[in-house]
Amino acid sequence: ASTVTYDLEASWMRASPDGFERSVIGINGEWPLPTLYATKGDTVTVTLKNSLGNVSTSLHWHGIFQNGTTNMDGSVGASQCSIPPGSSLTYNFTLNQSGTYWYHSHLKGQYPDGMRAPFIIADPDMPFKNDYDEELVISLSDWYHDFTMDLAKSFLSVGNPTGAEPVPDSALMNETQNLNVKVAPGKTYLIRLVNLGAFANQRFWIEGHQMKVVEVDGVWTEPKDASIIYLAVAQRCSVLVSTTNSTGANFPMVTSMDTDLFDAIPDGLQWNTTGWLVYDDSKPKPAPKVLDTFDDFDDFTLVPQDRLPRFPEPDHTITLDLYMDNLGDGANYAFFSGQTYVSPKVPTIYSVMTLGEDAANVSVYGDNTNAYILEKGQVIEVIINNQDPGKHPVHLHGHNFQVVAREAADTGDAPANLTDAGTPGLPMRRDTITLWPTSYARVRFIADNPGVWLFHCHIEWHTISGLIATFIEAPLEVQKSLKIPDDHLAVCKAEGVPTAGNAAG
Ligand code: C2O
Repeated sequence: ASTVTYDLEASWMRASPDGFERSVIGINGEWPLPTLYATKGDTVTVTLKNSLGNVSTSLHWHGIFQNGTTNMDGSVGASQCSIPPGSSLTYNFTLNQSGTYWYHSHLKGQYPDGMRAPFIIADPDMPFKNDYDEELVISLSDWYHDFTMDLAKSFLSVGNPTGAEPVPDSALMNETQNLNVKVAPGKTYLIRLVNLGAFANQRFWIEGHQMKVVEVDGVWTEPKDASIIYLAVAQRCSVLVSTTNSTGANFPMVTSMDTDLFDAIPDGLQWNTTGWLVYDDSKPKPAPKVLDTFDDFDDFTLVPQDRLPRFPEPDHTITLDLYMDNLGDGANYAFFSGQTYVSPKVPTIYSVMTLGEDAANVSVYGDNTNAYILEKGQVIEVIINNQDPGKHPVHLHGHNFQVVAREAADTGDAPANLTDAGTPGLPMRRDTITLWPTSYARVRFIADNPGVWLFHCHIEWHTISGLIATFIEAPLEVQKSLKIPDDHLAVCKAEGVPTAGNAAG
């Protein structure tokens, strides 16, 4: 294990990934942002300097457990204060996991302006290391021509009583509409797919090539054939793809936004983007065939490669009813069991650190944080009742979870028709699950990671409208063991946020 150091400076720049030029958030003068790499066991030190000038920022390490370093999670309002223009902050954490992850700003409405990229953690003991020749990373994303917070204003306004989410202007692969992936015949590639989008779930396929799923969200799985990968916002999936034995042709590779989520389909919307597996530059690049039905791969049928058995019956069950509604002022908000999350002025971690014994009393966190206290070592089950006719990719920080039950779409009022996981006793694990329309799911994890962890819908419009809960795990233990570095306290001070620093003793 070694130390991996990245110095990142965020600043505005111009880019036109789909032909329309706009301002985007770049890093070190580059956009798309660099893919970051590390190896399991490494300690990662990332210093982020905010040179954006007009807005604060942060970086979240999506899917990273942050064992013992909950304050390095990057979620503004939960684990840190935002970093104001001109300030820097260092993230320091050790990786005890491997696989395909990503990093993005975790300040309301910021990552869809371009502050997002893959984060790959190599594993010397990767179970499939002898099964492929080379690795590729392909990100899938949606893209808007307008700034997220400008779109958010109309999304949350009285002029939008149905809560229709802004529809993306285009779809991108590796943040471009012109992706050419050079491949050699007769080889096998590990392709790491990451959905970096704000809203659209994506379908991905490669004509003439079968895929074999071997990873979801950092969990290696027993290999399973797939012809179309369905990847919700924030999800990742690795597939093994063997190339053909000849250089006779090039093959279209398509990412296609799931338009079921869109209330309206604007004229001329380009919901597909095509790239190519290029065997021979001199040969034509054919247009993709149009598909009108999709044979989506069902992640629920996967078995984790480590065959970790289903966790025992829960010690603590949390039921979250998910719905979107009007608050009477005409604007739409999102709710978990009647609460709309509002980011607290003092980040939750600082309340944990400074409230003494009271930190274990849920009422001190206020209704707006939608807080739940978890005790160390408990088996936690979260039941999510999706009472909304839309699909929701829900994500848990600091953990992955077993998906122990999931209801298919539209089978009636949730909860009903409980279906057990694909292989009894060996549920798949991931950190982001898609809830189907008006349906429900049960996920299970062990509270073995003291810290403050958000649980939220990863559709940025829904995050903005409050679809977030806060899980506060073993707060008194966090209070005793966590040390907040001075630069983290300094950005709070610079943002005018009172924090009393580290707990005494
Ligand atoms: Cu991708 Cu709250 O995270």
